[in-house]
Amino acid sequence: MKLFLDTANLTEIKQANEWGLLDGVTTNPSLIAKEMKNGGSFKDIVTKILKETPGPVSIEVIAEDYDNMLKQAFKISELGKNAVVKVPFTTVGLKVTKALSDNGVHVNSTLIFSGIQALFAAKAGATYVSPFVGRLDDIAEDGMSLIEQIKTIYTNYDMKTNILVASIRSPLHVLRSMIMGADVITLPFDVLSKLPSHPKTTEGLTRFLDDWKKAFGSMDFPL
Ligand code: E4P
Repeated sequence: MKLFLDTANLTEIKQANEWGLLDGVTTNPSLIAKEMKNGGSFKDIVTKILKETPGPVSIEVIAEDYDNMLKQAFKISELGKNAVVKVPFTTVGLKVTKALSDNGVHVNSTLIFSGIQALFAAKAGATYVSPFVGRLDDIAEDGMSLIEQIKTIYTNYDMKTNILVASIRSPLHVLRSMIMGADVITLPFDVLSKLPSHPKTTEGLTRFLDDWKKAFGSMDFPL
């Protein structure tokens, strides 16, 4: 199971990497636009992310027609060996996905909201599919049941496309994805930073160290 960070912010990427928790990054036009407001060109920002990330980085095309999507996709893939082209799931996007994967370019098929879309993206050769669980929850549908569906469909037909759970809003989304056997989870930094802590770990450590101090009066290490 791989953990990706859903961000275009370099400080967050560096922090997750230092924790040993960064397998890759996903960006989207909204996240990159937010970083560009703070200065820096598109190329500058994505090049730095690609360099800082030890695994795949998804960067999305913004065109909607075939020729321009393809042109943008090839430009993205030339930015680095770990660049993955994010292609929105539309019929044009499917055609682009097929052309790119036939040319050995890794595609993340994004904005997936149904099991059927996930199957079509896999048939077109996508390396990843990104089902958006949080945005389904937003409209009172159970986002996580989509992950279950895709898992079943991919198992039924022995499909190798990686299920990348996206639009994660809470630690529970993360846990349920892990239990369902998702291949990748991409999460915002604020969710990632909530995951390591547990009140019983904090309490346990405090008790161990208090006991030591009570017994020996200092925290000098005896070796
Ligand atoms: C996925 O790759 C998207 O960037 C992302 O997960 C969207 O999440 P949001 O619904 O919280 O914007």
